[in-house]
Amino acid sequence: MRYLTRKKLAELELHAKRVLAPESAHQVEDISLQERLHLQIAGLSIDHSRQLVDESTLDILLNLYQQSNTKKIRASYLEGEPVNLTEDLASLHMAMRDGMPELNPQLRQQISIDREHYLKFAESIRSGAIRSYNNKIFTDVVHIGIGGSHLGQELAVECLKDRRDKGPNIHFLSNIDSRPLMDLLQKLKPETTLFLVASKSFSTTETKINSMRAKAWFLERVGDKDSMTNHFSALTSNPRAAQEFGIPEKMVFPLMPEIGGRFSVWSSAGLPIALSIGSKKYMEFHEGARMVDEHFVSQDNLSNIPLLTALLGVWNYNFLNCHTLAVLCYDQRLRLLPQYLQQLFMECNGKSVTRSGEECEYSTMPVVWGGQGTGGQHAYHQLLHQGTSAFAADFIAITDKDDPIAEHRNWLNAHARAQSKVMSEGWNRDSNSESFKNIRGGHPHTNIVMNQLGPSELGSLMAYYEHVTFYLGALWDINSFDQWGVERGKTIANSIFNELNK
Ligand code: F6P
Repeated sequence: MRYLTRKKLAELELHAKRVLAPESAHQVEDISLQERLHLQIAGLSIDHSRQLVDESTLDILLNLYQQSNTKKIRASYLEGEPVNLTEDLASLHMAMRDGMPELNPQLRQQISIDREHYLKFAESIRSGAIRSYNNKIFTDVVHIGIGGSHLGQELAVECLKDRRDKGPNIHFLSNIDSRPLMDLLQKLKPETTLFLVASKSFSTTETKINSMRAKAWFLERVGDKDSMTNHFSALTSNPRAAQEFGIPEKMVFPLMPEIGGRFSVWSSAGLPIALSIGSKKYMEFHEGARMVDEHFVSQDNLSNIPLLTALLGVWNYNFLNCHTLAVLCYDQRLRLLPQYLQQLFMECNGKSVTRSGEECEYSTMPVVWGGQGTGGQHAYHQLLHQGTSAFAADFIAITDKDDPIAEHRNWLNAHARAQSKVMSEGWNRDSNSESFKNIRGGHPHTNIVMNQLGPSELGSLMAYYEHVTFYLGALWDINSFDQWGVERGKTIANSIFNELNK
């Protein structure tokens, strides 16, 4: 954060020392500030009152935002300018859900035509209008993809499983490990299985090898090469490679180059979600995200909730020395959220040079990890309560009045609240002989609660985190839209593989 003057930086550091001092209160005590930090956005209740801030922290953080280039970067982002500087690409995923009102109308129209096209395909598969080579209804869909071409898709399908009606079963293949591949294929019948190959580049090794294996499996059993044309579809920016693989043009759904992998869930790569819950509910998922975009576009300063969250992130990671962000989900349906957020936050913001290519003189995104309550309480919460590492956390819970067994839901939520309370307040036995029971508390965290986990709420939650990621990257002055760090390992793996495979 080179834009901060030495004086400003010293002010922030001094303030952080004050907040972290043992005698300092470990939670927001001012009731009106507590209320101001408890916010609502598109079906999400976001309560930041257990962060370690007071009015003056917020003033200092607001000042930090105002001195940064964030506003300018955001303007370029919304206008569809190339914010991904190293690849000279705009980042248009918001436009996929109609969240970029300033984008040129022709492009918006094209996006809507493309969306109708893949949703029509989804409905035709679901209704049986499009069938297998021998006129059977597709009962199973295998989505082959990895990283951004997989994580958001599986998260959404899993979260919304109870919203699925007549859709086919959706399976995911991402790792190059043969066992999950074999386990899955042996359960399927080629004549009722549709494969979706999701790869922006159509060249990622894992996806390429798994798709080739699936194609061989299909052809060995069906024999006739032409029959494959009904059974493989591609979601890609590289239609030529898809056609060379044997997928006909009508089965290729384009993905614009301006849609980064980790945001691809909003594009044709969201097809498995539409196949599972149908296009109407899929559009509710988009609508939840669009409502958050509307907020992102229209609000500024501390009224912009993702910006406030990102400023609190900078406060926690750069000044309160929190080395990790724990994502603690109190609902089994959200079990894949930590992995999805790992990719979103860490692939976007795991950078160490600024947008102009200079070495960052400050730390950027810390490690994101997490899991599910209540299981996590019997695993890593011991360290969270009594360990020595400083961390920040997000608790995510669902009120869920429709839970089939209310008692279980009440237990889940009682545990979530209890953990949040102890993490904030700690517990002091005031007796040396029982010091092993002391809990320090004072861990900054946010409580996110939704009344239900429907398509709209899930869309809102994912878009909220996308915008937080954007703001963090802009505040750190890094390019959140590229991922060069992962390329080198891929190249080396190719030559090692050639040795191993001799
Ligand atoms: O390895 C990282 C990455 O490039 C991600 O950014 C991307 O989502 C994933 O690989 C898969 O890439 P593709 O969609 O091109 O197969």
